[in-house]
Amino acid sequence: MKDLQKMHYFEVPTVMKHSLGAVKNIPEALRQLGVKKPLLVTDEGVVKAGLLDKVTKPLKDASISFELYDEVVFNPPLATVAAGTVKYNSTGCDGLVALGGGSSMDTAKAIGVEVAHDEPVIEYECTEDKKVLSKRIPPLTCIPTTAGTGSEVTMWAVITDPKREFKFNVGGPLVAAHLALVDPLLHLSMPNEVTAGTGIDALCHAIECYTCAYAQPQTDAAALMAIEFAGKYLRRAVAYSQDVEARYYMAMSALLAGLSYGSESAGAVHAMTQTMGGIFPVHHGLAVGATLVPVMEYNWMGEPAKYARIALALGVPAIGMNEREAALAAVEAARDLTEDIGIPKLGALGIDKADIPRLAKAAFNDPQTTGNPRDMSIEAYEKIYKRAF
Ligand SMILES: [Fe+2]
Repeated sequence: MKDLQKMHYFEVPTVMKHSLGAVKNIPEALRQLGVKKPLLVTDEGVVKAGLLDKVTKPLKDASISFELYDEVVFNPPLATVAAGTVKYNSTGCDGLVALGGGSSMDTAKAIGVEVAHDEPVIEYECTEDKKVLSKRIPPLTCIPTTAGTGSEVTMWAVITDPKREFKFNVGGPLVAAHLALVDPLLHLSMPNEVTAGTGIDALCHAIECYTCAYAQPQTDAAALMAIEFAGKYLRRAVAYSQDVEARYYMAMSALLAGLSYGSESAGAVHAMTQTMGGIFPVHHGLAVGATLVPVMEYNWMGEPAKYARIALALGVPAIGMNEREAALAAVEAARDLTEDIGIPKLGALGIDKADIPRLAKAAFNDPQTTGNPRDMSIEAYEKIYKRAF
């Protein structure tokens, strides 16, 4: 903790339920939330993977009516949210169920903001010149189909404003889901590349939040366990998609990493990847995977003791090493992990080196630069970007 004078605060408005097969409990969960007709927010990929039935069958069996909104796209733009809001309001829904990854969960949260406030979500962007949220979103159940974003327990939704080519945040306790229903069996159909990208995103949330200026004991505790689970189980989940134990602990890694966000933001990796995602249609998790190690190489000196602890959490036999050796071993352990699970470099994700100056400037201006453990500059971002190619 860097600032002991500041009032730190940690709030979790979300009930967390998890088990193999947890999704079968959706009718009871909705009853407890008082929801009679939810809008089910999801995307085409979830439907194609055959996961939609896992939610709709128990609903139909329990005679619970629902409306389906399956038009979510990744890096969801404002129009996707607005269309969902129209569907919610025109069909008499009284609650939300998000089934999918971060895009579906964030879209559902943003629809919730629009329904509750009767205004576009962009009016509530987290900047000083916008409005402050005043109403809780309608009861939202998040059912993640990936293990990465942690959006099921975070207080954040990230939405893309195509006009500005910018991904903005809306957040606070009023935006958080009422219930996270985590069923690792829904993760078995994730393709290896998605497992790798989303899993490394979870690890990155934990590493960034553990070492950023906003860290506090509650978020530290969640982050360390998230790092340990990712270090132990991410390779297994990528190698063998049906490894139920690995899927369970990666789901917990993502959830704990989401909790480690607390009420604040992450650091340089997310400043880089969030701004990049507003400009290019790049998969968030893979972009995070490509930039995580170059940022760690730069950042370790700002929090050497915490980096040494990360090495231990990642399974490095760091006892007996001095602090510098252990901190650098954490960077190498993260490098080994990203290479083992096949995270591509930025060039392979369609980013051009010629865009580095623009991307570095955007990252520097992103609010998440503020919490980074080492002072940042546009030049530093340019160097880090070059190392990610
Ligand atoms: Fe992320």
